[in-house]
Amino acid sequence: MPLVLDDLMAPEAINDPHTYYHQLRELERVHWNERWGGWVLTGYDDVVAVLRDSDRFSSDRMAYLETELNAEERCLYQPIFAVLAKWLVFIDPPDHTRIRRLLNTRFTPRAVEQYRPRVRSIVNNLLTEIEPRRRMEVIHEFAYLVPLTVILELLGAPALDRDLIKQWSEQIGTFFFLRADEPRRREIACEGVTSLVNYLRPLVAQRRESPTLDLISALVACEDQQELTEAEIIATCVLLVFGGHETTMNLIANGVLALANHPEEWDRLKADPKLIESAVEELLRYDGSVKATVRWARSEAVVGGKTIKAGQKVLCALSAANRDPEHFPEPDRLDITRAPNPHVAFGQGIHICLGAPLARLEAQEAIAGLTRRLPAPRISTPTLDYHPTVVSRALRNLPIEF
Ligand code: HEM
Repeated sequence: MPLVLDDLMAPEAINDPHTYYHQLRELERVHWNERWGGWVLTGYDDVVAVLRDSDRFSSDRMAYLETELNAEERCLYQPIFAVLAKWLVFIDPPDHTRIRRLLNTRFTPRAVEQYRPRVRSIVNNLLTEIEPRRRMEVIHEFAYLVPLTVILELLGAPALDRDLIKQWSEQIGTFFFLRADEPRRREIACEGVTSLVNYLRPLVAQRRESPTLDLISALVACEDQQELTEAEIIATCVLLVFGGHETTMNLIANGVLALANHPEEWDRLKADPKLIESAVEELLRYDGSVKATVRWARSEAVVGGKTIKAGQKVLCALSAANRDPEHFPEPDRLDITRAPNPHVAFGQGIHICLGAPLARLEAQEAIAGLTRRLPAPRISTPTLDYHPTVVSRALRNLPIEF
C-alpha cells in the first residue's frame, strides 16, 4: 500500500480529501491507520453505525487525550482542558443528555426561524458594500461576518467585540483542528480559551444581576435551578461562539467555490431561488465543512467485519460517507436538486449538530443573497490553500471576481 494512504495530513489528502477517501474506501472501508494509531471509516453505513452507537463509542476526547500526556503537559494544558472537558460535543451521557436537553429548545428550526430577517439584512448590507467592487475575498470580507454576528447577538455579547472574539476563536481552533503547521498550537489555544473565558465571565455575572431575553440569561436561569454549573455555562458559551461560526463560515466558502466551479448550477439557482434549501443540502454533502469526527471504543465492537478493541480510536470520515457511491449515485457530481440526500455533514446520533437549523438558515441566506445579486464568479487565484487539518475543510482564503 502506498504510504500516503496512511498519512491523513498528506498534501493530497488535505487538498483533495474526496479522491483520497475514495481510494481508501476502495482499499478497505474500515482501515487500521498505523501512522495515526486508529481506525479510519470511509463507508456510509459504518460511519452511521458508530455515530449512532454511543453506548459502545465514547466522545470523551479529553479523557483519552489526558492519557497521552505527561504530568507537565497536563499542567500546561489545564486551562483548555478545563473548558473543553465540559463541551457538549466531548461528553457522554448522562451529562450530555442533561445539557443538550437545556439547549435543544433554543435551536429547533422553528426557534431559529425568527433570526431569518436579521440574517438576510446582514447579508444584504455586506453585499451592498461589496457589489460595486466586482471582487471580494469570500472568507474575511463575507463568510465569517454572517454567522459570527448572529451567534454573538443570540448569546447577548456586544457586536463591538467581534474582532477580538474572532481572534480568540481562531486561537482555540489551532488545538481543535489539529493544525499541523503550528507547533505551539496547544499554548496558543490556551491563550485563546483563557481570553474568551475572561471575557464571558463578567457577561454571565451581569446577566445574573439583570437578565434579558438572550441565551446567556437563559443559561443563567438553568444555573438557578441547579441544572447547570457556572463552569458549564461558560464552556457552553465558548463552544457556541467557536462551533457557531467557523463551521458555517467554511460551509459558505466551500459552497461558493463549488458553485463557481459549476456556473451552470449557480445560474440554475439564480433562475429558481426556491432551490436554495436543496442546494444547501447538496453543498453540505458535496464539500461540507466538517470532514470527520472521532470516537473511542469503550468495549470491543465489530464494525464492517473488523474487530475494534476497547480503547481504540475511530475516525468517522463524514465527507467520505457523503460520497459513498453505495448511497449517493454519481457522488462526485454537484446536483443542487439531488433527492433524496441523506448526508451526514452534521453527524448522526446523540451528538448530531445542535446548531444545524441555524447553520442551514445562515447558509441559505448567504448563498441565496450571493446568487441573487451576483453573476457566477471566477476564482481569482491559481491555487487553493487549505488549512492542514483532518477535521475541518477550511480554505485559508477565497478571492473571487464577478
Ligand atoms: C455548516 C455548519 C456546521 C457544521 C458542518 C457542523 C457540524 C457538526 C458536527 C459534525 C457535529 C457532531 C460532532 C460529533 O458527533 O462528534 C456538530 C456538533 C455540534 N455543533 Fe455543529 N456544525 C455546524 C454549525 C454549528 C452551529 C452554527 C452551531 C451553534 C450555533 C453548532 C453547534 C454545535 C454543537 C453545540 C455541537 C455538539 C452537539 C452535541 O454534542 O450534542 N454547530 N456540529
